[in-house]
Formats: sequence, C-alpha cells, structure tokens
Amino acid sequence: MPNSPLTETMRPKRQIRSFVRREGRITPAQREALTELWTRYGIEDNNALLDCALLFGPGKPLTVEIGFGDGQCLRQLANANQDMAYIGIESHRPGAGRLLMSLQKDALTNVKVLIGDAVDILTTRIASQSVDEFLIFFPDPWPKKRHHKRRLVNTDFLSSLARCLKPNGLIHVTTDWDDYAKAIVDLIRAESRLHNLSKQGYSPRPASRPETKYERRGVRLGHQVYDIIARRCP
Ligand SMILES: C[S@@+](CC[C@H](N)C(=O)[O-])C[C@H]1O[C@@H](n2cnc3c(N)ncnc32)[C@H](O)[C@@H]1O
Repeated sequence: MPNSPLTETMRPKRQIRSFVRREGRITPAQREALTELWTRYGIEDNNALLDCALLFGPGKPLTVEIGFGDGQCLRQLANANQDMAYIGIESHRPGAGRLLMSLQKDALTNVKVLIGDAVDILTTRIASQSVDEFLIFFPDPWPKKRHHKRRLVNTDFLSSLARCLKPNGLIHVTTDWDDYAKAIVDLIRAESRLHNLSKQGYSPRPASRPETKYERRGVRLGHQVYDIIARRCP
C-alpha cells in the first residue's frame, strides 16, 4: 500500500518550473547583501499588486527584467537611465545578492528586486497594463527536446506579458539558440495582442542593450544571437 492516501489522479499536479533551485554557491558577501540591503532594494514577498508610483515616485516609465542572472545588465541600464524605474525578477538568490551589492556601490535608487518565479509573480503581483517594457535576456534554453516544456517563453507566459503591458509597451527577448528563437517568433505571431517589430522575426540589436554574461558565453561558443522585439497592440 502506498503511504499517501491520495491516488495518482487526486494528487495535485506539480508545476513545471523553468529553473532548478540551487543555492549552493552563495558567497558570504551575497548572503550579507540579501540581509543588509533587502529593506532598501527588495520588494516584499506578499500578494499585493505592485505600485510603481509608491516604489519609485510618480510618472516614471517601468521596465521589468525577468531572469536577470548576475544583474550586471540591469545595473548598466539603470545607471544609463536614472529617470526610469526598473524591477528585476530572479529566482536565483546568489544572483540577486550580487545585484544588491552593485546597486549599493553605484548608489542607484531606481531599481527594486523581487526573488521568486516570474511566472507566479506576473500572475499575482503585476497589474494589467502597468508595465512599459519587459526584458527577457537569454532565458535558459533547455536544449533537450524532452525539456522544452521547461522553457520560460511559452504561450501562457507571453499571454501574461501581454496582459501586464501598457498599450504600445514592448517585449524584448534575446536568445542564442536557433530553435528557441524560431519558436519565440512563432509564439509571438500566435498572440493576437503582440506585434513583432520585424517582419522577418529578428530585429537589429539595439545599441542600448548591454552585453550579458550568457550572451558572452554564447558568442564564445560561436552561437548567433537573436533579438526579438514585439509591441503590445494599442
Ligand atoms: C541563462 S540565465 C541568463 C541570465 C542573464 N539574463 C544573462 O543573460 O546573463 C537565465 C536566468 O533566468 C533565471 N530564471 C529562470 N526561470 C525563471 C523564472 N521562472 N523566474 C525568475 N527567474 C528565472 C535563472 O535563475 C537564470 O538566472
């Protein structure tokens, strides 16, 4: 007899995540940053909708970066555009710790950080038509076919982004995996609220987009980098 009284059909289905939880290599400095700097840069983990005006002051355009990794791209963008507001979402705590250290070093006041699964956060914390731009740079490619179901950018994810975007707001996704790039272009074509800025599917790399850690890795491996930019229909 199995231990659980639940039969297979009664058991709640486990959500497929686009990341694997791994905290192993957090440094003492990252751990300390997460404790000491959280009140200044962190967004509380609760169910309240985010209020950009309350977090940053009124009238600031809001960019949300999902899966910021070590946060150095977000740091560069925030430094270059101090009149804009940025929220970074990352599931990996060491990366968030690294970003907090950078924010303090540069004395930035236009970035806030959420730690958790962006899929859940989009659904529960972000109001409809409240975001000017989403950045998703080099999402985990999950190259094996049997793992494609773990890819972050899928139909439901794009639908969530479309809901959260203001009319004419932008989604900018980059990847260095050919088949993922093609799949994303197809998914955007299928989402009626989104319009790809490029007829061919891929846009020229904007000069304002900083190079990321994973991009450098992809380029070292000889991969082509794709920029895919879509606008939310008015
Ligand atoms: C391949 S890395 C790219 C990091 C960074 N954007 C770069 O280009 O260097 C993907 C990142 O997305 C994060 N991630 C994956 N799924 C996520 C999710 N559902 N919510 C938040 N972060 C996620 C991972 O922890 C990882 O840091």
